Amino acid sequence: MTEFDNTRWAEKDFGQQYLETADIRVVERDRLLAILKSFYRHFQGDKKQCRVLDLGCGDGVLIHELLGIDSSISATLVDGSEDMLTKAKNRLTAFKDIRFVKASFQELLHIGLQEFDFVVSALAIHHLTMSEKKSLFKYIYSHLDAGGYFVNIEVILPPTEALEGWYQNLWREWIIEKQTALGIEDDYEGTIRSYKEKGHYSKLDTLTDQLNALNEVGFKDVDCFYKYGIFAMYGGRR
Ligand SMILES: C[S@@+](CC[C@H](N)C(=O)[O-])C[C@H]1O[C@@H](n2cnc3c(N)ncnc32)[C@H](O)[C@@H]1O
Repeated sequence: MTEFDNTRWAEKDFGQQYLETADIRVVERDRLLAILKSFYRHFQGDKKQCRVLDLGCGDGVLIHELLGIDSSISATLVDGSEDMLTKAKNRLTAFKDIRFVKASFQELLHIGLQEFDFVVSALAIHHLTMSEKKSLFKYIYSHLDAGGYFVNIEVILPPTEALEGWYQNLWREWIIEKQTALGIEDDYEGTIRSYKEKGHYSKLDTLTDQLNALNEVGFKDVDCFYKYGIFAMYGGRR
């Protein structure tokens, strides 16, 4: 497996810059979080002390949102960046049943965690090649209780060049709309043009390939739950 891109995510400025601009860079981030919460309420709503695993937690935004609708959650947050985990710890100090694991996804495959009812991830797994994604999907499947769900919010590779051109335009339109609302005028053209060129994003896979990989691993109810250009939310049930 390729190693965790420590050179970038371990840099304070790189992580900080992502966090400060995430609501602009990530199309409909609030909507994505709202759909994740709806999914959780629908499929896990009655359970108490639901065991939730967040892979590539960043500053802990996903778990924080889920704790907002279910404070009984028992959460485990994994990230390869010490700096991001510190931010997540600071964000979640008010909550007691939380564990933090500093490990890359590559290292995690050799770490036996408990079983979980719900596994989430956002904008992190795309750093892995398809064969690495499959290994991680197998790991997730083997750590889910029967009936447990995996939901991944992800940047995906458009299936054709024609669609890619439109998706980039959709992304540009979103950024302009969001910046106008916030009264900001930063230049994101470089981000849009090079989103899959740099090492960071060079391992993107199509939605179809990722859904097929989940099916191959054994997940049921595999589907795309939301999609807007290159941003998608998909998952399945053990
Ligand atoms: C774009 S941020 C997303 C953070 C958070 N999930 C969110 O939605 O705001 C990606 C996160 O994944 C982590 N990450 C990236 N590649 C990783 C890997 N191979 N192993 C572990 N963590 C990784 C980074 O350190 C970073 O915190």
